[in-house]
Amino acid sequence: MKLTNLHPTIFIIFGGTGDLNARKITPALFNLFLDDWIPGQFSIIGTGRTKLTDEEFRALLLEGINSFSRRGKADEKKWQEFSQYISYQVSDIKDPATYAAFAEKIKQQEEAWKQEADIIYYLAVAPQFFPIIAENIAKNALCENIAKTRIVIEKPFGHDLESAKKLNGLLQGIFDEKQIYRIDHYLGKETVQNIMAFRFANSLFEPQWNRNYIDHVQISVTEQLGVGDRGEYYEGSGALRDMVQNHILQLLCIFAMEVPISFNADEIRDRKVDVLRAMRKFTPGDIKKLVVRGQYSEGWMEGKEVPGYRQEKNVKEDSNTETFAAIKFFIDNWRWQGVPFYVRTGKRMQQSSSVISVQYKNVPHSIFPPEASESWEQNRLIISIQPEMSIRMQVQAKRPGLNMVLNPVDMIFDYKGTYPTETPEAYETLLLDTMQGDQTLFMRGDQVEAAWELIMPILSAWESKQSLSFPNYSADTWGPELAEALIAQDGYHWFTLPHNHKKNS
Ligand code: BG6
Repeated sequence: MKLTNLHPTIFIIFGGTGDLNARKITPALFNLFLDDWIPGQFSIIGTGRTKLTDEEFRALLLEGINSFSRRGKADEKKWQEFSQYISYQVSDIKDPATYAAFAEKIKQQEEAWKQEADIIYYLAVAPQFFPIIAENIAKNALCENIAKTRIVIEKPFGHDLESAKKLNGLLQGIFDEKQIYRIDHYLGKETVQNIMAFRFANSLFEPQWNRNYIDHVQISVTEQLGVGDRGEYYEGSGALRDMVQNHILQLLCIFAMEVPISFNADEIRDRKVDVLRAMRKFTPGDIKKLVVRGQYSEGWMEGKEVPGYRQEKNVKEDSNTETFAAIKFFIDNWRWQGVPFYVRTGKRMQQSSSVISVQYKNVPHSIFPPEASESWEQNRLIISIQPEMSIRMQVQAKRPGLNMVLNPVDMIFDYKGTYPTETPEAYETLLLDTMQGDQTLFMRGDQVEAAWELIMPILSAWESKQSLSFPNYSADTWGPELAEALIAQDGYHWFTLPHNHKKNS
């Protein structure tokens, strides 16, 4: 059922001529339009430093849609219809005249529609420009109506705890928290949202979702791609900032949170912050024992030679930036006390896949003779986020035959088999939520700070001490050996899906 509470909306995209708009934002808006999710009164104003006519800007966006939309090339007639919503304004984000021009455009549009519009300021720009744009929006009184104006902030949200606090302070001094939409695109993924459906819409799982039944949890988000042409950004980031502080901790929070009272945005976000607050803080002594960093060297991927991280464009020859991180976390609360949460993420890994794997404790007592249970495996729940979208429950079954022989089998819920329709992209979900004023899938200020607080001791330790072993893993592997040791010393191994998922999603 479609909701119909969409108001007339003006979408102002800063960084309109940039990569993010071409690849993600406009294709998502176009798909929302094709699926009938766009309000009748709608306007997209792209803005950037380059001088362009409306027509030139539209052509740029069409190219983006044709190359990156999940639906492929745009239907000409549909594009003609959609493109009427799009206009362009050249701007200098430091110049007050830019904002006066927006104010005038908004006024004209509202007069034409004879209605006040919801205004969304989308900051698809480098983080150093967030403050100046936010300040100018405020100076020009463009965000005074709390219910009808919103600002969307892309990651990275801060470079460390201090800068995240500073940015939060600045934004919260201008906007109400209800107006601030901090994007973490993992939260918009269907499979990630489904973790909540799975946990809270079924009575089956909750009773065993705790330390009494679960032995340990693994969250593995690996990519085959290297840093490519993002070397400059990545040098100032690394895997911990790029993936762990945001995406992985968000996954962990959704997995581990207490049951919320309702699907209310703040209720859910409160429960997620509770998880971060309960996570055990790292002491300097822990870092050596519980955390592993890695950097890829050159190697071969699918028959092609690929450069090492230090040979990538805009990367220092002796770079200390990690392209891999593995961490063992604990959550100090009643539900999870003593259950290790192993997470790992890395670039240039053997598979591109994001998987949460839950290993259950063994049965308290086996009634079967040893010869029946040679291939016995503890139960596992495997939530595959991408590229395969599935949930598997690994259970023991009797192999057909005259003897009692047990072996593990999978009960599988597979999206593609169950729902033949295509799943929307994360950005479609998140942009629609922004238009509807629903913040459930966006990060709240305190959540972002709690995540930074948790990883700061690791960042400080790594930055203060150059890794002497870098590069320490080759392309097309599962990362450094120490990451295997991190989990092997507890008697486990990293779980990988049984199939060969070679392609990026
Ligand atoms: C981004 C990171 O946030 O997420 C990238 O900056 C990473 O380095 C990407 O490749 C992964 O997203 P996805 O949706 O492809 O898993």
